[in-house]
Amino acid sequence: MLVSSADDIDVERESRTEKDHEYFETLDEVFNAYTWRSLFSLMNKGVVDQILGPLSQGKEARVILAKDRKGVYIALKIYYTTTSTFIKSRYKYIMGDPRFKNKKIKKDIIDIVEAWSRKEFGNLSAAYRAGVKAPRPIAVERNVLAMEFIGEGNRPAPTLNDLGVDGLDDPDEVFWEILRNVERTYVLAKLVHADLSEFNILYHNGDIRIIDWGSAVKREHPLAFGYLARDLDNVFRFFGVGLEGRRVARLIAERAGEPYEEDEDGWLVVKGKRLYEAIDEALG
Ligand SMILES: Nc1ncnc2c1ncn2[C@@H]1O[C@H](COP(=O)(O)OP(=O)(O)OP(=O)(O)O)[C@@H](O)[C@H]1O
Ligand SMILES: [Mg+2]
Repeated sequence: MLVSSADDIDVERESRTEKDHEYFETLDEVFNAYTWRSLFSLMNKGVVDQILGPLSQGKEARVILAKDRKGVYIALKIYYTTTSTFIKSRYKYIMGDPRFKNKKIKKDIIDIVEAWSRKEFGNLSAAYRAGVKAPRPIAVERNVLAMEFIGEGNRPAPTLNDLGVDGLDDPDEVFWEILRNVERTYVLAKLVHADLSEFNILYHNGDIRIIDWGSAVKREHPLAFGYLARDLDNVFRFFGVGLEGRRVARLIAERAGEPYEEDEDGWLVVKGKRLYEAIDEALG
């Protein structure tokens, strides 16, 4: 194991954000004692061998590049434990989730953060098992989620937002690939992502990976339908497609109640139709 020397903290420049100076913070400033203990547990379990440096810094979490024992890059999403905005912004999701109903969630922010990390890991795992294009989940340890690194070398894949529609090789194909994955998430993982947008879809080798599953809710969640419609509206807006989120969400929900088959491309076939055919027929 060990934290690499400063020389190794050298994610290629192109992959850095405009907040470049943050890459030169020392690792001690990046990780508090609580987070260090989480990281050491992952090292002791053999999940993490080397910690390389930050890939991204969000409001509630940082994503760090690391290597496993085989020298393969992995991504660590580390939730902050020192921000009270966490409770405000996330409490409603956890409390509305039936899986957390019988759980006594203390006001202690650590418990909330740990519940959130486990929830994201559980959602990501369910999506991945359902064949949804998402990073492979590896482990969760308190506030740290380890997953497959999506990128080229040590350079993370861009988001759809980074590229814009014009930056995609085949926007039409990417659009339908997202819709195929949204339906798979709903029908097979029985989840709604609930934070889907061009910011949470990575584009790698002409293919997509949906990330950031912390907000996802079970299909039975009282607000699930609204989140599904909003997710779809975000996709339609990004691609400039004149479809209505609520109408497509209704179509997906109806199809989910019917028997289905899968074709060789992973499309669900319901009453002889794939989602794009059903959309074309109902709304086209
Ligand atoms: N598995 C991964 N492989 C490569 N890069 C990743 C991975 N997961 C996350 N990232 C990078 O980290 C960024 C933030 O990840 P994510 O969306 O999960 O966190 P977040 O807390 O929502 O951050 P933000 O507030 O910026 O949205 C992504 O845009 C991407 O650049
Ligand atoms: Mg995000």
